[in-house]
Amino acid sequence: MKHLGILLSGRGSNFEAIAHNIATGRIPDARIAVVISNKPDAGGIATAQRLGLNTLIIPFKGTERADHDRAMVAALKQHQVDFVCLAGYMRLLSPWFVQQFPRRILNIHPSLLPAFPGLEAQEQAFAYGVKVSGCTVHFVDEELDHGAIIVQKTVPVLDSDDEHTLAARILEQEHVAYSEAIAMVLQSDYEVVGRRFGKKSPAVA
Ligand code: GRF
Repeated sequence: MKHLGILLSGRGSNFEAIAHNIATGRIPDARIAVVISNKPDAGGIATAQRLGLNTLIIPFKGTERADHDRAMVAALKQHQVDFVCLAGYMRLLSPWFVQQFPRRILNIHPSLLPAFPGLEAQEQAFAYGVKVSGCTVHFVDEELDHGAIIVQKTVPVLDSDDEHTLAARILEQEHVAYSEAIAMVLQSDYEVVGRRFGKKSPAVA
């Protein structure tokens, strides 16, 4: 049984989809050990409490970066977290934080990386005029929206779209993609070679 730690700052719809997919067995052999938010009023925290999960609030404000990171890592380790899932967590993790969970931190981003990293990716993609966008689940490394890609889903941009309708259709795919990615990462027959995540090649007898 693998323990997941979820970090979020807002609505928490990706977290809710993950929790649902654990409950229905689509993500096997996993449980959510703790949900941590920097904001006490994050929608995701209310959902986590409703689901009876452990929740923690660790605010950014008023703490030095290094102290904040130490508190986060201590909380994750105390809950024996194996994998950390960022689900709308509005802070870049420090290199030290990333190094505490090597290839064990996942993030979801609402564009087809490496296009449109950073904030408001759906709006950036819409304004650029792309005809296809989507979402990316990737490992977190020390650079923003950059680590090895685990799953991507494409979403066509329709003539009738605005950035809000596009974002809503991307979000539907996010909810599928994140659980697929977690289920893959939890299996031991996947590996990362260079930047490529995929099935391990069968051992030669
Ligand atoms: C999602 O669009 C995700 O891709 C991005 O932040 C948003 C979080 O939404 N990283 P929610 O809180 O999961 O509903």
